[in-house]
Amino acid sequence: MSEVTITFVDINGEEQVIKDAEVGETMMQVATADNVEGILGDCGGGCACGTCHVYVDPEWQSVVGEPDDVEDMTLEMVFDARKPNSRLCCQITVSEQLDGLKVTVAPESL
Ligand code: FES
Repeated sequence: MSEVTITFVDINGEEQVIKDAEVGETMMQVATADNVEGILGDCGGGCACGTCHVYVDPEWQSVVGEPDDVEDMTLEMVFDARKPNSRLCCQITVSEQLDGLKVTVAPESL
């Protein structure tokens, strides 16, 4: 399997199910390719802009994992909207283990 299903709930609360997310892409690439509202990816995935902020569905948190130190710093600097399940989706690589993952786009806070 090289394609998995990822669900984004966009900033308008609309659910967007993407059934052909390619393994190896980042979640940000998947979201911007499918025009998920609220995911901008301004820095191109450099973990510097924070415009790809999502909340990972709680039941998926342990599978997706925690942010590393660099991502953690960007989340700290940029967001009032940070929650325990916040991630920058440019730092999440699509894998077969993430088939069925659901995330919610965080409100803009820049
Ligand atoms: S795209 Fe800039 S931090 Fe993710």
